[in-house]
Amino acid sequence: MRQWFGLGIVALGIVLIGASLVALGQGALSDADAVVVGVIAVLAVLGGAILWIMARRRVKAPVGGASNHDAAMTTIVGGRTHVRGIPYVLPRDIDEMNRLDFQHYVLRQAFGGNFLAPIEHPRAILDVGTGTGRWAREVATVFPSANLIGLDLNPPPMDEQAQASEDDLLPPNYAFVPGNILEGLPFADASFDFVHMRLLVLALPHDRWPFVVRELIRVTRPGGWVESVEVIADERGGPAIDQIMSWVSAMLQRRSIDITDGSRVGALLHENGLVNVYSRRDEVPIGVYGGRVGKLMAADILNGMQALRGPMESLGLTTATEFDRVFAEAKRAMESPRVRCVAPFYVAYGQRPG
Ligand SMILES: C[S@@+](CC[C@H](N)C(=O)[O-])C[C@H]1O[C@@H](n2cnc3c(N)ncnc32)[C@H](O)[C@@H]1O
Repeated sequence: MRQWFGLGIVALGIVLIGASLVALGQGALSDADAVVVGVIAVLAVLGGAILWIMARRRVKAPVGGASNHDAAMTTIVGGRTHVRGIPYVLPRDIDEMNRLDFQHYVLRQAFGGNFLAPIEHPRAILDVGTGTGRWAREVATVFPSANLIGLDLNPPPMDEQAQASEDDLLPPNYAFVPGNILEGLPFADASFDFVHMRLLVLALPHDRWPFVVRELIRVTRPGGWVESVEVIADERGGPAIDQIMSWVSAMLQRRSIDITDGSRVGALLHENGLVNVYSRRDEVPIGVYGGRVGKLMAADILNGMQALRGPMESLGLTTATEFDRVFAEAKRAMESPRVRCVAPFYVAYGQRPG
């Protein structure tokens, strides 16, 4: 807005300079009056240009860090940036954005694609809790005639280099929309042919799941599809991984979040009137025994555990020394071919009756 105001003043100054030269040429202005008008016009051009440059700098300020507005919405826990005032426990900073992108590529490889629902010729697709928007951008290229919207609390923080190169890579049919699913989706009923939500289990209190699922269904068109992908606590990883999972569960309990809720979304889709509901559990391997995907998942999960360390320590669930010891043991377990740890994923989709 300020950019346009600055440009407007520059344009006004240029018009004034032109008008005063014309008036001087026609003898309608004295030399002295022409000098006064000319000085005002030049000042307007300079002032407008300065406003324009300052506004552009302000627009670019959030790149690589938080703007004042963002800073007011965030808090630092254990050196990581978290969004304030929401139940979600993971940070929202550049390190976490890199983890989410990495995780997206691992999951796409593990599941052999980006979605399971039988989507045909969609015109509008919504991704709730889009993270970096990676999923939505890829799906935008698969369906170039559909409009893709990625919704999250605030735009993903990006480092400057990524921002500069990604501006070119954003598909023209993708847009980010800010929103909080716990407050309801900012869209009219029946707006989308496909509504997708992945890995919001660390963000949604147990008693809010029915509301969230109803919102996903509300914005889906009759005949359209809702798909959910969630995960519950890692299993069969041995004592160290179990210990970290129990700290995570205790931390989530303080926010009324139940990590097992991810396994119940299929039932919720069915209870809320969707038809052709399909749900399944997929055990994705974590650790060297699981080959390439197992090793990549181990890197992702270890990184995620580190991201949760600050909140767990600040709640007094563990100490830095204890966490480091247990974390090192968990890492060793993932490096042992004998340990067969899994991430139990639950994928569910259903169709809104036509
Ligand atoms: C684990 S990430 C998953 C991101 C993405 N869906 C993916 O699979 O790559 C969870 C995302 O949900 C977002 N989130 C958390 N609480 C939310 C809320 N109440 N409304 C909207 N988004 C939320 C977070 O900001 C984060 O980007």
